[in-house]
Amino acid sequence: MCLPATRTLSLMFLFQLPEDVLFLVFSYLDPRSLCRLSQACKRSYMFISRDAVWRKIAKDIINTGMTRQGIDLCPSIPLKDRVRVSHNWIHGVCRKEVLLKWKINLLPWIQLDCDVLYLSQAANISAYHLRAEGGKLQNNRVALFSGHQEDVCRFTLTDTHLISAGGDGKIIIHDRGSDYSVEYYGHNQEVNCIDCKGGVIVSGSRDKTAKIWALAPDRFGQCLHTIPTYDRVWSVAISPSLCNFVTGTACCENFAPLRIWDTERCHLVSCLGTEFRRGAGVLDIAYESPFQLLTCGYDTFIRYWDLRVCSRKCVMEWEEPHDSALYCIKTDKNHMIASGSSYYGVVRLWDKRQTRCLQMFQLAPTTSSPVYSLCFNTTHLYAALASVLYSLDFRTAAPQSWK
Ligand SMILES: *[C@@H]1O[C@H](CO)[C@@H](O)[C@H](O)[C@H]1NC(C)=O
Ligand SMILES: *[C@@H]1O[C@H](CO)[C@@H](O)[C@H](O)[C@H]1NC(C)=O
Repeated sequence: MCLPATRTLSLMFLFQLPEDVLFLVFSYLDPRSLCRLSQACKRSYMFISRDAVWRKIAKDIINTGMTRQGIDLCPSIPLKDRVRVSHNWIHGVCRKEVLLKWKINLLPWIQLDCDVLYLSQAANISAYHLRAEGGKLQNNRVALFSGHQEDVCRFTLTDTHLISAGGDGKIIIHDRGSDYSVEYYGHNQEVNCIDCKGGVIVSGSRDKTAKIWALAPDRFGQCLHTIPTYDRVWSVAISPSLCNFVTGTACCENFAPLRIWDTERCHLVSCLGTEFRRGAGVLDIAYESPFQLLTCGYDTFIRYWDLRVCSRKCVMEWEEPHDSALYCIKTDKNHMIASGSSYYGVVRLWDKRQTRCLQMFQLAPTTSSPVYSLCFNTTHLYAALASVLYSLDFRTAAPQSWK
């Protein structure tokens, strides 16, 4: 870009202002103006590359790794780049790729930990290294976690362990750094769901109970509490405060499908919501803070609960427009939610400030597979269907509107 001499001159004066004044001035500019300005001279380029210039913009748009509280979840990547990629998320600009395919239909579950993707396939869980340039995933397997006699239903990761729940009623605690694992029968029937935080494991089962276990080597397999839920448990999540956890149940009995329990004393703290259709079972729960959580399931709604405001009514809700059940949700802890639907591999992106869905990707238009599990970081989204694992890469060239 070529600027007239007078403007170059005024730019020179602009950069003589104290830095805090400059930050303030720039905080009023939109990304496009900032990009123009950064091309003006080396000085402006250097200054505008700094994270501080982009922080306010990054907090205001989706999936930049900035939480609502202003905490940066991936400080190693310049915010300017993340703002650019965020525009691709907003506009649905991405590259779809099949990472892995298998022959039979399964109910896979996935988790992402930096560059490693954990995927359950039948009774095993594999860890794959995701190379930046793509490539065959099958050749990148770095670990295998086995031990279940039946399919793995869910698993969860901590810094040190991978804890899996199986259709065989077993819970297996695998050490992530070695081959060591401990297994025990947790429930009489399928263990549908599991969560672990702060040294506590919570499991939920078809046997209509939730159980609390300690994650301490000398107490592995020791059940601390059993909570009768009188309804099959499909999902559990431990609050970031560690004081409570939520169970999402099948809603086939006369009990609210979302109940919050005290982790220490195991009494019922509260029920979320009041009127639920029979069969409105809850399939996934995601906490954003000790007070805020998202839920989804068979009744086709994503609901956002704020326990400080009210537990009887959610503060926001979004309906899946095709009347499909919602199998999984993930949040960027700020404005974006990603959800997986029960048909045609539909993944949706939602901006919480809008009632309508922001983007829809139909990953498998010809098969009726649900999206059983999904996860994302600021550049990629991974979705596991019955027999295929997809990735969506949002790092493509910037849309024209940006230039
Ligand atoms: C997101 O995950 C992919 C695969 O693990 C990785 O290549 C990429 O660098 C990650 N992006 C960020 C921003 O961490
Ligand atoms: C699980 O892993 C074991 C050990 O590698 C292997 O023998 C078995 O075939 C695997 N099962 C499935 C279902 O992939």
